Amino acid sequence: MRKRFVGADESVAANRAWWDADADDYHAQHGSFLGDAEYIWSPEGLHEADAGLLGEVAGRAVLEIGCGSAPCSRWLRAQGAQVVGLDLSAGMLRHAMAGAARTGISVPLVQAEAGALPFADASFDVACSAFGAVPFVSDSAAVMREVARVLRPGGRWIFAVSHPMRWMFSDDPGPDGLHVMQSYFDRTPYVEIDRVGRATYVEHHRTIGDRVREIVAAGLELDDIVEPEWPDGHDREWGQWSPMRGRLFPGTAIFRTHKARSVTRTPDHYKVR
Ligand SMILES: C[S@@+](CC[C@H](N)C(=O)[O-])C[C@H]1O[C@@H](n2cnc3c(N)ncnc32)[C@H](O)[C@@H]1O
Repeated sequence: MRKRFVGADESVAANRAWWDADADDYHAQHGSFLGDAEYIWSPEGLHEADAGLLGEVAGRAVLEIGCGSAPCSRWLRAQGAQVVGLDLSAGMLRHAMAGAARTGISVPLVQAEAGALPFADASFDVACSAFGAVPFVSDSAAVMREVARVLRPGGRWIFAVSHPMRWMFSDDPGPDGLHVMQSYFDRTPYVEIDRVGRATYVEHHRTIGDRVREIVAAGLELDDIVEPEWPDGHDREWGQWSPMRGRLFPGTAIFRTHKARSVTRTPDHYKVR
């Protein structure tokens, strides 16, 4: 495992190139699990139809961030939402266009970076992300602020990331993945590099407390942190997510937040009317 500081521009460049290059393999490996028009939140297989984290979506304006090939966006469209799918990678969005052709369900797609959303203030009722963008950006606080800006008052922002405690363990689905390898408090990013030392893949770590502070600082309110449990009978591994580890500790954290309807800043707290 290689760790070093990686700034915003290098993170974005590395991840755009990575997801462009990896798009075919990612879908060859995970496409059947994700489905053509399904909302799977995480490798534990949690489906939005069962979880209901987004609330009623019919008729709502929904933004999916880091949509990849956009199966979640197509599922939301099929439920009657007005969805926009956003992703950094043209390679991933090409798979989204193929998915639209296959299913006949098409949603507007936007190629953009999550830290600079190309939408007017208060454009969406709901924003969501299943492992899109948030784990990969160096300034996730900026993503929280951007999402808060484009949400209408009362709008929900729900995002799934690798559970922060997984950071301590090696990326191994087997028994080797049960040994603590590094400090939970070490925020140095995980990075893969090419022959000249340039980052080709970057993931950034935040502790649970970091995530909560970034959410609150953006003017959002935290409603829940969902830790999907590994279901009985689910034996499909996805990278470091496996039944063996899933039975012992969480692999995914889903942060459920909303933008307050009206907020007054007071000296020591936010008062919601
Ligand atoms: C693990 S994939 C998840 C894709 C999809 N949500 C799914 O469940 O299959 C991560 C996605 O986030 C996108 N991504 C990474 N960094 C991003 C950024 N800074 N802004 C927008 N999208 C980004 C990648 O291009 C990729 O499509």
